[in-house]
Amino acid sequence: MRVLLLGPPGAGKGTQGRRLAERYGISYIASGDLFRSNVSEGTELGLLAKKYMDAGELVPDDVTIRMVMEAIGSAGEGFLLDGFPRTMAQARSLDGELDRAGTPLTAALLLSLDEEIAIKRIAGRRTCERCGAPYNVEFNPPRAEGRCDLCGGTLVQRSDEREDVVRHRLDVYHESTAPLIGYYADRGVLREIDASGSEDEVTASAVAALREEP
Ligand code: AP5
Repeated sequence: MRVLLLGPPGAGKGTQGRRLAERYGISYIASGDLFRSNVSEGTELGLLAKKYMDAGELVPDDVTIRMVMEAIGSAGEGFLLDGFPRTMAQARSLDGELDRAGTPLTAALLLSLDEEIAIKRIAGRRTCERCGAPYNVEFNPPRAEGRCDLCGGTLVQRSDEREDVVRHRLDVYHESTAPLIGYYADRGVLREIDASGSEDEVTASAVAALREEP
C-alpha cells in the first residue's frame, strides 16, 4: 500500500499517519519530522529548513524532493507519506518516480477539518522531542505530564505553533497545497474523510476509505 495524507495543519495527519502505518505494517515518512530531526542534529539541511519552518513557509522544492525521495527509496514496498507532497512540483515529481517504478499511489487521503478547530488542536499540541509522537493537553494528554508514553522523551511545543505562524501556514496550505486535491481527484485516487471526530473515529473512517475501490 502506498498512501499519502493531505489536509491543513492540525487536521491530524501525524496522529493518523502513525496509526495507519502501524496498522498496515508500512513505513511512515513525515517530511516535517525529517526536517525537525535535521534541525535538532544541526545539519546543513536543518539550518536551511529552520528559517522556513519558523516563518510558516515551505522549504524549497529541490531539497524537499531529494530528502523525501531518499526516504522512499529506503522504505521498501509500502509507505505512508505525511506532509509530502505540498506543491504541484512535488506531486509531479513523486508520481513520475512511482509511475516509472511501476508502483503508483494507492490513495491520497484527505483529512477535512474546520480551520478554527485545527488552530485549537495545534494550540494544545505537545510533541515528543525524541520520537515525534503528537499529544494534546486537552484531547490526548500523556500518562505522565511532559513525558512521551512511547519512548519516555520530553514533550515540547514546536517553534511554528504560534497562532500568527499557524494562520500563515493555513494561507500557504490554501495557496500551494489545496490545488493537489483536484490533481489527485483527476488521477482517481482521492478519498476524503471527516477529521472532526475522536482519534478512533477518524482512524475508523480512514480504514473504511482505504478499503474502498478507487
Ligand atoms: P508538518 O510537520 O508537516 O506540519 P503540518 O502539515 O503543518 O501539520 P501539523 O504537524 O501541524 O499537523 P497534523 O495534521 O500532523 O496534526 P497532528 O496529528 O499533529 O510541517 C511543518 C513545516 O515543515 C512546514 O510548515 C514547512 O515549513 C516544512 N515542510 C514539511 N513538509 C514540507 C514539504 N513537503 N514541502 C515544503 N516544506 C515542508 O494533530 C494536531 C493536534 O491535534 C495534536 O495535538 C493531536 O494530539 C491533536 N489531535 C489529532 N487528532 C485529533 C482528534 N481526532 N481529536 C482531537 N485532537 C486531535
